[in-house]
Amino acid sequence: MESHRPGPGRYKLRPRPAPRSGDRLCRFETVDAQAIQVMVHTFYGCIREHPRLGGIFNKRLDGKWEDHLPKMEAFWQSVLLKNGAYKGKPVPAHLKLKEVVSSDYADWLLVFRPVVRELFVPEIADEIIAVAERIAQSLWLATFGHAGSMPPAELTSQHSEWSGSCW
Ligand code: HEM
Repeated sequence: MESHRPGPGRYKLRPRPAPRSGDRLCRFETVDAQAIQVMVHTFYGCIREHPRLGGIFNKRLDGKWEDHLPKMEAFWQSVLLKNGAYKGKPVPAHLKLKEVVSSDYADWLLVFRPVVRELFVPEIADEIIAVAERIAQSLWLATFGHAGSMPPAELTSQHSEWSGSCW
């Protein structure tokens, strides 16, 4: 009976495509609507599990997630792609959240930063995080600030948080 097993040399190894820009983890290298959609959905999947913030989001957005997620995609598109997709007003939306305390903004960033670092190459992650920190600072100032106050230091990245160097 004829063997169907391939003999030597019957299969040729094909050269594998070179990895894109050498990024082994296939992180997003550009920001587009698809990357933003993944970022938004991943972030809200995580924040909903947060021991404190999860309760705030789940209570406030109960039955409204289907509107909130596309709204947040539009927000991040407006901020990062500058396409004007978002027309809302974040400050009044947060001022009405009376249950939010000052440290919640730092906790929000503690969830946001690792999500962004997981999804994007470092140079882009740095930019997105810097933008989120600026917005978190202005929301904190609008909510808790008074004349002359400064946002908490935790709303700004410290090099030691993510740099592997030893200086
Ligand atoms: C203490 C941290 C935060 C909490 C607890 C929080 C919570 C919420 C909740 C519950 C809503 C829905 C409000 C509603 O529809 O009734 C909301 C909306 C929103 N949040 Fe936050 N948020 C926080 C920080 C941030 C930060 C740092 C950003 C931006 C980087 C952000 C951007 C937005 C935007 C754009 C909306 C939509 C506002 C609108 O209705 O147009 N939030 N947030």
